[in-house]
Amino acid sequence: MTLFELVKITLDELYKNAQQVHGTNTDAEIKNRFNYLRASYTKLSDASRTPIDYRDPATRFAYVYRYVASHGDYVVQLLTMASAALGGGVFPKGTARVSCIGGGPGSDILAILKYLDDYSAKEAVTKLVIYLLDKEQAWADTWTELDEKLNAGVSLNTNFQPLDVTNPASWTLQKKFLDADVFTLSYFVSEVYSLDSTGVVTNFWQTLFKEAKSGAIFLYDDNGTDDFNAYFDGQWQKAGLQVLAQGSNENWTPRYTERSDVLDTYKNKFSAWPKLKGYLSYRVLRKP
Ligand SMILES: C[S@@+](CC[C@H](N)C(=O)[O-])C[C@H]1O[C@@H](n2cnc3c(N)ncnc32)[C@H](O)[C@@H]1O
Repeated sequence: MTLFELVKITLDELYKNAQQVHGTNTDAEIKNRFNYLRASYTKLSDASRTPIDYRDPATRFAYVYRYVASHGDYVVQLLTMASAALGGGVFPKGTARVSCIGGGPGSDILAILKYLDDYSAKEAVTKLVIYLLDKEQAWADTWTELDEKLNAGVSLNTNFQPLDVTNPASWTLQKKFLDADVFTLSYFVSEVYSLDSTGVVTNFWQTLFKEAKSGAIFLYDDNGTDDFNAYFDGQWQKAGLQVLAQGSNENWTPRYTERSDVLDTYKNKFSAWPKLKGYLSYRVLRKP
């Protein structure tokens, strides 16, 4: 299955959830949420902004429709870069552990499963333990729908854990997610960049990098803005991580195997397209 096909299954469920909340106003609400998200993403560096609220199913529909397939595909591409840099598999044989920070919408977990499916000759993973860590509990529902539909070919153990990087009480006592072989930070740094005026988010990054195990891989990708890159570069450089691959402000598209035609019904309904290209910055990092 392609990422767009998986996204379609989830969208059908989310659309029903949105109808339960918004009834005959569902389509209008979803259209509003496309605009809400687009406008919100232009203000991410504004410290006075109100954080984005993803709770409503219409907002979650808008997010998954617009962003999940392309963001997932970018993470697949970063995993292939990590594999090339390491000269073999990214994951250990047998059980692999992945922690997706800000991974509630499912882009990151889909990417891991798609990568393991596409590159099964290189990776000998039989069991996958995934932690989805996100402030918004409502994403757990969205992800559950995804998980039930996935036929990953590996034994899958998934855990959704509420975690707010601005609230140390939500992460100081959680330790298991720090055991990961791979951490994904997909379009997450930009989301919390402006919330770091007190240093609380820096405290999270430094704890994460310090307590992760030697050899852990960190995959950062985000929307290309120099402010976010400089901020994140400062964080991982301070922690002494190594760069395996990097790029800034590059024009990226999903791989040609990913086709969005499967979403045509929704394209026609909303006169809106899933994101198919964008400026991307990425860092593929390893803890020595
Ligand atoms: C732009 S989305 C990225 C989602 C996904 N990784 C992707 O690439 O599509 C940002 C995610 O960060 C979560 N988030 C926002 N603020 C957060 C915080 N303070 N702590 C943890 N998660 C947060 C949101 O709920 C949302 O799921």
